Amino acid sequence: MCGIVGYVGAKQALEVVVSGLRRLEYRGYDSAGVAVVSDSVLVTRKRAGKLVNLESLLGAEPLPESTTGIGHTRWATHGVPNDANAHPHVDCSGRIAVIHNGIIENFAELRAELSAGGHSLDSDTDTEVAAHLLEEAVERAGGSLADAMRAVCARLEGAFTLVAIDSRSPDLVVGARRNSPLVVGVGDGEMFMASDVAAFIEYTRDALELGQDQVIELRADSVLVTDFAGNPVEVRAFRVDWDASAAEKGGYDLFMLKEIAEQPKAVADTLLGRIGPNGELRLDLGLPEEALRDIDKVVITACGTAYHAGMIAKYAIEHWTRIPCEVELASEFRYRDPILGRRTLVIAISQSGETMDTLMAVRYAREQGARVLAICNTNGSTIPRESDAVLYTHAGPEVAVASTKAFTTQVVAVYLVGLYLAQVRGDKFGDEVRAIIRELADMPRKVDIVLDTVEPVRELARQLKDATSVLFIGRHVGFPVALEGALKLKELAYMHAEGFAAGELKHGPIALLEPGTPVVVIVPSPLGRSVIHDKIVSNIQEVRARGALTIVIAEEGDESVEAWADHLIRVPVCPTLLQPLVATIPLQVLACELATAKGHDVDQPRNLAKSVTVE
Ligand code: F6R
Repeated sequence: MCGIVGYVGAKQALEVVVSGLRRLEYRGYDSAGVAVVSDSVLVTRKRAGKLVNLESLLGAEPLPESTTGIGHTRWATHGVPNDANAHPHVDCSGRIAVIHNGIIENFAELRAELSAGGHSLDSDTDTEVAAHLLEEAVERAGGSLADAMRAVCARLEGAFTLVAIDSRSPDLVVGARRNSPLVVGVGDGEMFMASDVAAFIEYTRDALELGQDQVIELRADSVLVTDFAGNPVEVRAFRVDWDASAAEKGGYDLFMLKEIAEQPKAVADTLLGRIGPNGELRLDLGLPEEALRDIDKVVITACGTAYHAGMIAKYAIEHWTRIPCEVELASEFRYRDPILGRRTLVIAISQSGETMDTLMAVRYAREQGARVLAICNTNGSTIPRESDAVLYTHAGPEVAVASTKAFTTQVVAVYLVGLYLAQVRGDKFGDEVRAIIRELADMPRKVDIVLDTVEPVRELARQLKDATSVLFIGRHVGFPVALEGALKLKELAYMHAEGFAAGELKHGPIALLEPGTPVVVIVPSPLGRSVIHDKIVSNIQEVRARGALTIVIAEEGDESVEAWADHLIRVPVCPTLLQPLVATIPLQVLACELATAKGHDVDQPRNLAKSVTVE
């Protein structure tokens, strides 16, 4: 939440900063602003609304040339999204500009103290206190912005990334981080600081991963990182494994459409290099096999779509390993006193690796002695760094706020963990594991088939444009798929949508049905677990008998549903546990098309932001 960019080098800072903001806009789009230092004068421009508003302002009121600058795109926490609350915030003297991501929890008392001390605060934000505290601290620090930043950080409570520039140190950008993301980009005679590598990927792929409670001094040819006490600290260098084109729309109208289409490759990339020549799994989890054999409980924790991936994984992990598996919303996890111990494996799933709720769950689990394995898509992010082990999904950058390829790859990655556990522990015979892996390895092809056949879903979406409520039902792994379908529709089409375990309908929710209410039904394979299949076919009949418009997702060749489906969406034949990888795709397309038909901004839905870095 909130995107932050800082630049110092030889280029025009404004161009670098605005192009960085364009790539970070998915993190928040309530307002945007920039500041540069030119001829020892600080100049800012900021505007409520999307980046395009700031760009118009910059067209009307250009900034002077400068090679040092910062920029911010906001997801509002304190104060409505207006011009005054937009970042950067500036101190009374107009010397220091600061941008912020996170929440300064003790801002009210700091604000009262600053006001009593004669400072004039012009916004309703928590951030502005940092600008005025820096103003005072820089005087005390003999003019050193970095010393001032360390002193200010020591006074702040909560989560923050702060990045500041000072008109009296025109060649310096200073950043600080606690519990909020910040990475450094290392160029040739230029340096970058940003919430996410996407901001500087068109200039450099060399990056530095920062730790907690660190202050960064960025000059065109040097980076100095210290702790809050001023002691220099080592940071890990890494190379970003994707390039600028991966974060472009690449000919698609929407990032979401591009990311939906990328799923066959993303799923293949999650599997890449992880299957040995004899079909066995080769995972370098960084956890000793002895520890894996010792596990007596798995707890999966995540938020939103990642939580749905975790719900799906529970079915597979328990089925394959017979280890009890719980799935817990990360936002609830540490508040309910969960039972964790040395033999518990906690799997934290997060695309961004920065979701604050999930990060807090990770920390709590480790404090309780559990081992934490992160499943993550973002190299250099906080959750993998703070976990005992990590398995990257390698889905490539996901820019659309609504998660698509991250979800399918999370399911694959957590399945790999489940199968690996079964392999290491001997819960399944080698040939059984290999057979499932063969099926998994065939999924990119099957996802591709779904993508080739979803055109009728687009047409259906246009027909549903005026529906007031859409229900999704499924059983077994189809239940989390139903929840995911409903979530996508809520966040993109702003429609009332709910997902239910199909068997629960008759215990209450069936009262919601009115003639014509669309009900999307996820039907598992009739092969193998045919009991679930037969039960859900009965559920379709129940809702249809009450006037529902039935939209049925069923396997190719499953004739049993034909009589009850007003709309039938076919997916390739696959085992029930793998069906979410194909059944979710039409639901993503449905939500995307419905939102488009309603004229909504699909990539940047209202009130949302990708990477939720506040609790
Ligand atoms: C929904 C969506 C969110 C995220 C959730 C967790 O489409 O994208 O529900 O899944 O905020 O985010 P990560 O995976 O980054 O922890």
